[in-house]
Amino acid sequence: MRICMVGTGYVGLVSGAGFAEMGNDVVCVDIDKAKVQRLREGECPIFEPGLEELLARNIKARRLTFTDDTAAAVAGAQVVFVGVGTPPRSDGGADLSAVDKVAETVAANVQQETVLVLKSTVPVGTNARARRIVANAKHKVHVVSNPEFLKEGEAVNDFLRPDRVVLGCDADDTFARDIMERIYHPVCLDRNRIIWMAPASAELTKYVSNTMLAMRISFVNEIASLCEKVGADIHEVRHGVGSDVRIGPKFLYAGPGYGGSCFPKDVQALVHTAREHGLELDLAVSTHRVNERQKGFLARKLKSHTDGDLRGKRIALWGLTFKPRTDDVRESAALMLIDVLLTEGAEIVAHDPEGMQNARALYGDRIQLVEDQYDAAKDADALVLVTEWRQYQNPDFERLKTLLRRPLILDGRNIWSTYGLRKQGFVYEGVGVSKQ
Ligand code: UDX
Repeated sequence: MRICMVGTGYVGLVSGAGFAEMGNDVVCVDIDKAKVQRLREGECPIFEPGLEELLARNIKARRLTFTDDTAAAVAGAQVVFVGVGTPPRSDGGADLSAVDKVAETVAANVQQETVLVLKSTVPVGTNARARRIVANAKHKVHVVSNPEFLKEGEAVNDFLRPDRVVLGCDADDTFARDIMERIYHPVCLDRNRIIWMAPASAELTKYVSNTMLAMRISFVNEIASLCEKVGADIHEVRHGVGSDVRIGPKFLYAGPGYGGSCFPKDVQALVHTAREHGLELDLAVSTHRVNERQKGFLARKLKSHTDGDLRGKRIALWGLTFKPRTDDVRESAALMLIDVLLTEGAEIVAHDPEGMQNARALYGDRIQLVEDQYDAAKDADALVLVTEWRQYQNPDFERLKTLLRRPLILDGRNIWSTYGLRKQGFVYEGVGVSKQ
């Protein structure tokens, strides 16, 4: 199958390389010429486990090529996927100009009956909007909605072994359905994994999935605060609650609030869509509000241990990314913490296995970044664990005790909550972990 993937961001690159891996002939398009050149040379622009190898293998096999010429690329394709950005506008809606542009280019250049697949996260109604744009094309263009559920850090695996593939398409559109079945057959050998539905339902499914996951996290973070008040332990509560098969154990981990490029944006976008239709989604609104409060949690804990005065205090941070196995710091709890610490006049020494370059781009020399995680702890008044990277799991606590000026540890992810650190002489605080 000749596939064109427009947009080489997270979704576009992983999906484009994934489709090539299945033997398709894939051309990935990006308007950024320099990026296209780097991709041609096999350089992977993001840190994503397994992606570099996937790109290299398929470029070498000539199944995967890159271009900045959208018109030529769409003209030669049977299927055009749209994986371009849809950044939030100031009014809370999504800026769809890049999606519109692709639809217009497809309308102007198709050489055969084509399927246009919307993979970008787009508001409800975008499928219908794209249909209007391609309605007068020279050849019939079928529009399918195919939201993406990739997780950063697991994206390659998620693509090759999806829980489900959601496809929004007219029930009687056999042309588009046959093509989409062929494309996804290799990763969905069990056909039940393909879920067909109306385009608007597919568009909504993406937002509802992310908001529901975010909602679980916000609820568990609220309960963690209650645990601290009543002397309960969030681990035990999570275990007890998550063992009900109707609830399940996943996405019930208390922490410093969810971040990343999807949850914060998608929760807000769902609220916005509902408001446009005169509905107030109270649970989604609260999910966001609770998360904003939770992102201030580590700073509040720090202040409670420094008599409210962080001026001149040296704070060591372990972890800057919004979760492990990514270099992405967007909406990370670390950013909110850094902003508060800088405003309050603290000194920050941080370490992250992959995220330091992105943090440097944001903060320059206002924070100190170190290559060795222990160097961050040297003479620090506290060590704050923000992201649960594996290499932080079993540190040398004796060494940390000699390095830290004060043995204060704030564990934002509860990775050390069972290590008996209080007995070892540390002042230890987790999230929702009983003080007893
Ligand atoms: C998410 C969705 O999972 C994915 O399906 C969608 O396509 C994109 O958005 P991603 O943003 O990569 O993926 O990260 P995810 O692993 O879902 O984590 C999101 C945030 O929630 C992280 O900040 C993470 O630390 C936090 N989280 C997750 C918790 O605080 N507790 C949990 O129990 C789980």
